Amino acid sequence: MSIILSTEFIKLLMTDNKNKIKNLSVSSEVSLSVNGMSRTPKASPSTRLLDYLRDELKLTGTKEGCGEGECGACMVLVDGKAVNSCLFLLGQCNGREVTTIEGIDAPKLFKAFEETGAVQCGFCTPGFIVSAYALLQQNPHPTVAEIKEALSGNLCRCTGYKKIVEAVEKVTGNG
Ligand code: FES
Ligand code: FES
Repeated sequence: MSIILSTEFIKLLMTDNKNKIKNLSVSSEVSLSVNGMSRTPKASPSTRLLDYLRDELKLTGTKEGCGEGECGACMVLVDGKAVNSCLFLLGQCNGREVTTIEGIDAPKLFKAFEETGAVQCGFCTPGFIVSAYALLQQNPHPTVAEIKEALSGNLCRCTGYKKIVEAVEKVTGNG
């Protein structure tokens, strides 16, 4: 059901048919889990997941940078996979589990970012931690190349990436 709806939304968004989106939104119900809590959003299913999280749930750890899928500042987990919430519609999350930076339980990873100096302005940090967490869940001992690949969708303007990669390495025991 959710896949059919999301395909519809994307098609409608691509054709910019706002009236159809509005009608579809009224008749479509979404329920999802966010950080372990069941939610039935007030927002329309055609709302960007990023806006729902920040505006309705006030989960402002998820940031908007580019709004175009280029920077990774808006990264969240959907069913354990790291996705750009600026490109994901609420309607695509029906029946799924969303985890934001507020719901990431990874004290070692947080500490490693702090200790290696991987955080400067901090704007990109939630997105990097979400991506790193998703990697480590699937692959607890990644190589440096695998870490770089997993973080390749995240941009940082401050650190030069070296310390961010070091932080993730530290958690793997290789750093
Ligand atoms: S704000 Fe989503 S990728 Fe940049
Ligand atoms: S720490 Fe500033 S953008 Fe990454």
